[in-house]
Amino acid sequence: MKHYRDHYFQKAKQEAYPARSVYKLKEIQKKFSVLQEGDRVLDLGAAPGSWTLFAAERVGKKGRVLAVDLQAIERDWPEQVCFRQGDLLCPDPDLSEALAAWAPFDVLISDMAPQTTGIKLRDQTLSFELAKSAFECCAGHLAPGGGFVAKIFDGPDVPELIAAMRKRFAKVKGFKPKSSREESKESFLIGLGYTG
Ligand SMILES: C[S@@+](CC[C@H](N)C(=O)[O-])C[C@H]1O[C@@H](n2cnc3c(N)ncnc32)[C@H](O)[C@@H]1O
Repeated sequence: MKHYRDHYFQKAKQEAYPARSVYKLKEIQKKFSVLQEGDRVLDLGAAPGSWTLFAAERVGKKGRVLAVDLQAIERDWPEQVCFRQGDLLCPDPDLSEALAAWAPFDVLISDMAPQTTGIKLRDQTLSFELAKSAFECCAGHLAPGGGFVAKIFDGPDVPELIAAMRKRFAKVKGFKPKSSREESKESFLIGLGYTG
């Protein structure tokens, strides 16, 4: 398993991405084509920035990426990227204003994850709250027909979120990337064709 972990870690280093998590989004993109050239993207839980960089590559110079995280990120971004530090669970007026000003987005991606406590049910609940808040952020921010990707830890609340998504997206799928660590309980919920 160590060899497996090292493969994506080393690959990210060689390809100048700040985290191995980029390969999860690459797998999602390969399977679901969520990001298109020229798209406006909202990237939630963006630090240290590998999803943001990949999204910026995919949407190109005509697209825009608004990246948000609790933590500050010090780096030079491509010109189509704007970073805002903030808490999606409790957005301050600056973050709410930025989200409203940038909307509508074509795609909302969330790799938000809680600081794990090691208490399984607690971690599942925290992850559920983050995925649910990303989904709720679609209302008023995601364009009709838009796409949605959210990380969630497997747990008893996942079916509730899938059911809520089914009312708002033409298609809803679950996906576990090969590049996720084998021991990880994370998977991704994909929503395609937002109906508002
Ligand atoms: C797995 S990391 C994201 C990795 C990132 N996608 C990348 O590829 O570089 C999860 C991130 O979620 C952020 N996060 C957790 N709770 C958040 C919240 N309430 N609002 C915004 N970001 C949050 C954490 O600060 C952390 O940086």
